[in-house]
Amino acid sequence: MIITIDGPAGTGKSTVSRLLAERLNYPVIYSGLYYRAIAAYLLQKELLIKAEIIKEITSVEIINDKEVKVNGIDVSFQLRRPEIDRMSSNISQFLVVREKVSELIKKKVENYNGLVAEGRDMGSTVFKEADLKVYLDASLPERARRRYLEDVSKRNISYDEVLAEIQRRDEEDSRRKISPLTIPPDAFYIDTTEMEANQVVKAIINKIAQLKVRNVL
Ligand code: DC
Repeated sequence: MIITIDGPAGTGKSTVSRLLAERLNYPVIYSGLYYRAIAAYLLQKELLIKAEIIKEITSVEIINDKEVKVNGIDVSFQLRRPEIDRMSSNISQFLVVREKVSELIKKKVENYNGLVAEGRDMGSTVFKEADLKVYLDASLPERARRRYLEDVSKRNISYDEVLAEIQRRDEEDSRRKISPLTIPPDAFYIDTTEMEANQVVKAIINKIAQLKVRNVL
């Protein structure tokens, strides 16, 4: 069973994906980490984004969400830096990058029996055949509040700055020409503004149970 969880930043995708995968005993693919890893690799090696350089990437090794290697080079310490927030969103508009990430993810999951795939286009593009496509959303102020609470202990930033960053990334992710962030027509849409992660997981588990009863899964 493939479950995709897409949505903009700050909607709780990573937490919900992790908790759901634990409940179902499935592995999780955090696709944003692939974009972050490629951005960090380019930055670390001082490389410009060029098709031949992206094509030379043969491995993105996600050991865990804090330990990642690209072509054997450790890029972990950069992954959550604000410039990688910006750069990953920026490079994600290029077809060669999107195809590379899709190829790496597809190769990785070839032998999986079940999967939770999290990102922006997991349901709309990469796993069009997914059994359940979840789209998480939340109001902009709430998403900014969540990110602010996560970030404030790590860097000196105001709520307004976080809000502006999220707004800019929303625009970039939704307006790009290839695989923009979009709600798949067959998605299970959840507004998480007033929900805890556990409640969201519960709603998804209930949805899976309903689909099983209706023999859709
Ligand atoms: O989920 P995240 O914040 O780690 O993702 C970082 C960036 O990567 C995001 O701003 C856009 C890009 N991304 C994407 O284009 N498609 C995905 N499936 C996942 C992430």
